[in-house]
Amino acid sequence: MNEQTALKTDAKPAVKTLPDAQTVTAVRHWTGDLFSFRVTRPQSLRFRSGEFVMIGLLKDDGKPLLRAYSIASPSWDDELEFYSIKVQDGPLTSRLQHIQPGDQIILRPKPVGTLVLDALLPGKRLWLFATGTGIAPFASLIRDPETYERYDEIILTHTCREVAALDYGRELVEETLNHEFIGEEARAKLRYFPTTTREESPQMGRITDLLRSGEVFEKLGIPPINAETDRGMVCGSLAFNMEIKEILEGYGLREGANSEPAEYVVEKAFVG
Ligand SMILES: Cc1cc2nc3c(=O)[nH]c(=O)nc-3n(C[C@H](O)[C@H](O)[C@H](O)COP(=O)(O)OP(=O)(O)OC[C@H]3O[C@@H](n4cnc5c(N)ncnc54)[C@H](O)[C@@H]3O)c2cc1C
Ligand SMILES: NC(=O)c1ccc[n+]([C@@H]2O[C@H](COP(=O)([O-])OP(=O)(O)OC[C@H]3O[C@@H](n4cnc5c(N)ncnc54)[C@H](OP(=O)(O)O)[C@@H]3O)[C@@H](O)[C@H]2O)c1
Repeated sequence: MNEQTALKTDAKPAVKTLPDAQTVTAVRHWTGDLFSFRVTRPQSLRFRSGEFVMIGLLKDDGKPLLRAYSIASPSWDDELEFYSIKVQDGPLTSRLQHIQPGDQIILRPKPVGTLVLDALLPGKRLWLFATGTGIAPFASLIRDPETYERYDEIILTHTCREVAALDYGRELVEETLNHEFIGEEARAKLRYFPTTTREESPQMGRITDLLRSGEVFEKLGIPPINAETDRGMVCGSLAFNMEIKEILEGYGLREGANSEPAEYVVEKAFVG
C-alpha cells in the first residue's frame, strides 16, 4: 500500500461546513443587549474601512438567514470583528448571541457601503456620529491609518441610552490611543465625545440637541461645523440619521456617495 492510499484510508470524514463558513475565534458580551465577536477572515477578502457585509447562520430548513453587519475591525486586521445587538425575538440575533469560539457563521465576502473615506471630499475635520451599534463602522475607521492621513482632527460622538452601552466604544478608543502603530496619530487627532440619554453620566443628552445648542463645540473647544473644513459620517437609527442630516445641511454640508463624493455620508445602523 503506498503512502497516498494510507492517507486516504486514515482520513477522517470531512467536517460539514456552512457555505462561506468562517470560524468564531472570540466572543465578548458587553451588556444584556450587546456583544462583539471575532471570526476568521477569508484570505481573499479586501474591504474599505466603514463597509458592511452580510453574515448569518443556517436556518432549520437549511437555507441561510443573513443580515447586514458593519465590519468593526480595521482592514489590516487578520480577523474580522463585529459588534452586535441582541434582539430577543430577532430571527438572527436570538440565535447569533449564543455563538461560541469554534462555531461557524456564514459570511458573504462582498463588502459594500457608503461610510467610506472615498465618498467624502477632502477636509480638515471628520465627525463620526453614532448611536448604539452604529459605532461599528467607526470602530474600523478610527483604526485605519488613512483616516489620520486625510484629516487633522477626528471627532467620534457616541450616544447611547445607558452608560454600560458605551463600554465597547470607550475600550476601543483607549486601545486605539495606546496602539503600537496608530496610537501616536490617534493621540494627536482623535477626540471622543460619549453621551447618554437615560442614565446619569458626565455628558448627558442627545448629540443632536448638543449640536443645536452649541454645547458640543463649547465642550470640545472648537468652532462650529463649517462646510469648507468639516466632513461627517452618520450611523444610527433612521430618526437619528434624519435629524443629523438636517443639522449638517443647515451648516451647508451636502450628502455624498461613492459615485459622487461630498461633505457627509449616512448609513442606517439597522432597519426599522
Ligand atoms: C447597513 C447595515 C449595517 C448594519 N450593521 C449592524 C451592525 O454592525 N451591528 C448590528 O448589531 N446590527 C447591524 N445592522 C442590523 C442587522 O442587519 C440586523 O437587523 C440585526 O442583526 C438584528 O437581526 P435580527 O434578525 O435578530 O432582527 P431583525 O428582524 O433584523 O430586527 C428586528 C428589530 O430589531 C431592531 N434592531 C435591529 N438591529 C438593531 C441594532 N443594530 N440596534 C438596535 N436595534 C436594532 C429594529 O427595531 C428591527 O426592526 C445593520 C443593518 C444595516 C442595514
Ligand atoms: N434597554 C432597552 O430597553 C433596550 C436596550 C437596547 C435596545 N433596545 C431596543 O432596540 C431598539 C434600538 O435601541 P437602541 O437603544 O440601540 O437605539 P435607539 O433607540 O436608536 O437609541 C440609541 C440612542 O440614540 C438616541 N436617539 C434616538 N433617536 C434619536 C434622534 N432622533 N436624535 C438623536 N438621538 C436619538 C437615544 O436617545 P433617547 O434615549 O433620548 O431616545 C439613545 O441614546 C429599540 O427598538 C429598543 O426597543 C431596547
